[in-house]
Amino acid sequence: MDSIGSLGLQQGEGAPSCPQEGLPCPSNSSEMVQECLQQFKVTGAQLRQIQTSLLGSMEQALRGQVGPAPAVRMLPTYVGSTPHGTEKGDFVVLELGATGASLRVLWVTLTGIEGHKVEPRSQEFVIPQEVMLGPGQQLFDFAARCLSEFLDVLPVDNQGLQLGFSFSFPCHQTGLDKSTLISWTKGFKCSDVEGQDVVQLLRDAIQRQGAYSIDVVAVVNDTVGTMMGCEPGVGPCEVGLVVDTGTNACYMEEARHVAVLDEDRGRVCISIEWGSFSDEGALGPVQTIFDHTLDHESLNPGAQRFEKMIGGLYLGELVRLVLVHLAQRGVLFGGHTSPVLRSQGSILLEHVAEMEDPSAGAARVHAVLQDLGLNPKASDAEWVQCVCMAVCTRAAQLCAAALAAVLSRLQHSREQQALQIAVATGGRVFERHPRFLSVLRETVMLLAPNCDVSFIPSVDGGGRGVAMVTAVAARLAAHRRLLEETLAPFRLTREQLAEVQAQMREAMAKGLQGEASSLRMLPTYVRATPDGSERGDFLALDLGGTNFRVLLVRVTTGGVQISSQIYSIPECVAQGSGQQLFDHIVDCIVDFQQKQGLSGQSLPLGFTFSFPCRQMGLDQGILLNWTKGFNASDCEGQDVVCLLREAIRRRQAVELNVVAIVNDTVGTMMSCGYEDPHCEVGLIVGTGTNVCYMEELRNVASVDGDSGQMCINTEWGAFGDDGSLSMLSTRFDASVDQESINPGKQRFEKMISGMYLGEIVRHILLHLTSLGVLFRGQQTQRLQTRDIFKTKFLSEIESDSLALRQVRAILEDLGLPLTSDDALMVLEVCQAVSQRAAQLCGAGVAAVVEKIRENRGLEELTISVGVDGTLYKLHPHFSSLVAATVRELAPRCVVTFLQSEDGSGKGAALVTAVACRLAQRTRI
Ligand code: G6P
Ligand code: BGC
Ligand code: BGC
Repeated sequence: MDSIGSLGLQQGEGAPSCPQEGLPCPSNSSEMVQECLQQFKVTGAQLRQIQTSLLGSMEQALRGQVGPAPAVRMLPTYVGSTPHGTEKGDFVVLELGATGASLRVLWVTLTGIEGHKVEPRSQEFVIPQEVMLGPGQQLFDFAARCLSEFLDVLPVDNQGLQLGFSFSFPCHQTGLDKSTLISWTKGFKCSDVEGQDVVQLLRDAIQRQGAYSIDVVAVVNDTVGTMMGCEPGVGPCEVGLVVDTGTNACYMEEARHVAVLDEDRGRVCISIEWGSFSDEGALGPVQTIFDHTLDHESLNPGAQRFEKMIGGLYLGELVRLVLVHLAQRGVLFGGHTSPVLRSQGSILLEHVAEMEDPSAGAARVHAVLQDLGLNPKASDAEWVQCVCMAVCTRAAQLCAAALAAVLSRLQHSREQQALQIAVATGGRVFERHPRFLSVLRETVMLLAPNCDVSFIPSVDGGGRGVAMVTAVAARLAAHRRLLEETLAPFRLTREQLAEVQAQMREAMAKGLQGEASSLRMLPTYVRATPDGSERGDFLALDLGGTNFRVLLVRVTTGGVQISSQIYSIPECVAQGSGQQLFDHIVDCIVDFQQKQGLSGQSLPLGFTFSFPCRQMGLDQGILLNWTKGFNASDCEGQDVVCLLREAIRRRQAVELNVVAIVNDTVGTMMSCGYEDPHCEVGLIVGTGTNVCYMEELRNVASVDGDSGQMCINTEWGAFGDDGSLSMLSTRFDASVDQESINPGKQRFEKMISGMYLGEIVRHILLHLTSLGVLFRGQQTQRLQTRDIFKTKFLSEIESDSLALRQVRAILEDLGLPLTSDDALMVLEVCQAVSQRAAQLCGAGVAAVVEKIRENRGLEELTISVGVDGTLYKLHPHFSSLVAATVRELAPRCVVTFLQSEDGSGKGAALVTAVACRLAQRTRI
């Protein structure tokens, strides 16, 4: 099958080829016309080559590889689904660029009821040439004026109107309402628009117009509007094809195949922008001298070559160039041309459609040619009709080759051999040209035989489709506003953080003086950080974090060796009786000693007990109150060292020498201080949160002595329990607090630490679901389950290396039916919650290091902070956000954060070692 087409002329059948420039002129006129017509003949092989080459460019662009030749662009449109039919509301639609020198404004009412349609009202405005070629501002002001003129005659409020902007030019979209013009096409060439966000330009123009408050919520390419406007009953159409002044198509591609989108599920509508297809190898052979002339004389030479062979803006011009060519060679119109015929753009699409329309007959052709100032003979009219048919047939065939490439792409991407698909068609070439669709359909069937294609003409040029997208965009914009409103209280300003810092300083000062304060500023009786002379074997316990650990710590000249074992503390033990808890602890110690071959040895033991204790000495600590989900009875108000010793006694035959009890912050500071003597602060951000630091003894009212230092356990988890944080507390914090086992307590901790962040997120997700913003408003049992949303999910979801798809996977495991928009919103919720936590933590650290700097009257303080805790260590951004906040709020402190490698067990052993060393010295 070598020649295709409706001319009904087979190759060689009395149709010699048309002479090229500079070649000797053939003798008779019909031959010369035939030769010209021959140039517009496209063979099956050529069409297949175009199909293959265009498919290649499409897949190259999808992979994000830009080829040498400006290939097709494959632009994501942020339209992720074909219409549900549930969209409803009144929308204004502004169409610019689809129909050349005119723009159209529509008022579209979507009822949201399948099959129930309200006829849109519309008005067309002709765009003056000087506006299409003038400054961009002028064009957008013109559009805004047309909008007002249209709305003036409608009984509508001038408030809260929502507009969908159909902008039919190649644009890089970064959202449904954000789109940057790449380059003008189709007779437009306004200045200062390429590279700009056209939505913003329209918003500015509407603002300048000032007549109506119109919210531009979506920008859509006309092919997308055409596809989305497809009647749900008929479709859904998954391809939108426009042939009007220009040409282009869009289709629903598998999101996972679009490299620029990190999506693995669902589909996304891609605007192909096939007008810029210009692969020399494929197009070269079918381009005629007339195509080159047309391109050369166009506004954008070298660009949109494929479009210039198909688009309605160019068909008339191609016909004109052929007629001028043949007239100047004396073949047509007796060798005469006319000023009109010689002037560019004088033959319009309408002329071609009329002249080619077999039903129009020669008389109509005659009339059109006379309007062009010609005096045609009957044979001229016939030849002119042939020229029109040749130009349009080729256009339809080329368009078919392109569409066949799209169908092949759909077969690839859906791994379907046989494809059944509905293609929505729009544009005046379809509406006005009698044969375009039939040639297109015929050629597609030959080029894509395994595809069953139905062509669905778009009812109103895509206006309804644009309104559908606008409805979706409006819904998403409303959701985004609700999300922003919900998360706004989590976005802390510098002033708010500085206020927290100041409040923390004040509470520290009061706590040190023993005045009422939410910061208890507990002396730890650790007066010095390690000096490296510590030596010996020590047992250490580490209770209060995620894991309970028993450790053997060997401190030698060569450094510190640690062997440890993790034991679980079942919730029933953590919330059982104190005796049960401490008996369980001793059981673990005994088990560890047996495993380490230490049974019967009474090694000095350091007890990291990560709860607020008032200490009267290194080995005395009264538990003030449990935190972090612990609630063992008969412990609060007790000396936990005694409780441990009693449990040891109850266990008989076990010898243990409990030398020191330390808070995990102190253990962490000591552990890091062993490597870095500048480490004078210990920070924990794990299940709970807290900080300790080396304070000047003179400032510690409850401990005698004015010289030297003492490590103070601030217990900042309780900061704000006096209400001083209420200005920051949100309804979600209140819910988490009320549902905790210690309501009203540890308010600062409940805004920061790992035990609570997941719960804060869960409550926000429940709230957003109840607003219909998330999960289509469907509350799931799972999401109503306490602690179902682990804080570790935040760390996973916020990790940069995790694509949105993995965010979905985590949430789907939670049984949450979600869309990619949902996943994005959940990510933003996690980011807001963890960012606030890190900033509050940073404000606290800034308060502490500034206190130390002022204590020492230093202009600048260099200090290290030893840190431990799962949240701090595992969250991808937490540590850097803390450091950034400290730099911001304590610029005169150079703070290094040291992540503790061995946990605070080592620190407890070092405190024990120091205690033993000091005890030995006093004994000597
Ligand atoms: C380390 C320390 C513990 C501390 C814990 C806090 O494991 O050794 O003493 O309590 O960190 O972090 P976590 O995330 O476990 O609560
Ligand atoms: C534009 C496309 C548009 C097509 C049909 C082309 O010139 O680049 O964005 O879809 O015309 O209007
Ligand atoms: C406790 C602190 C501990 C912190 C970190 C808080 O709940 O009150 O003593 O340091 O958690 O584990």
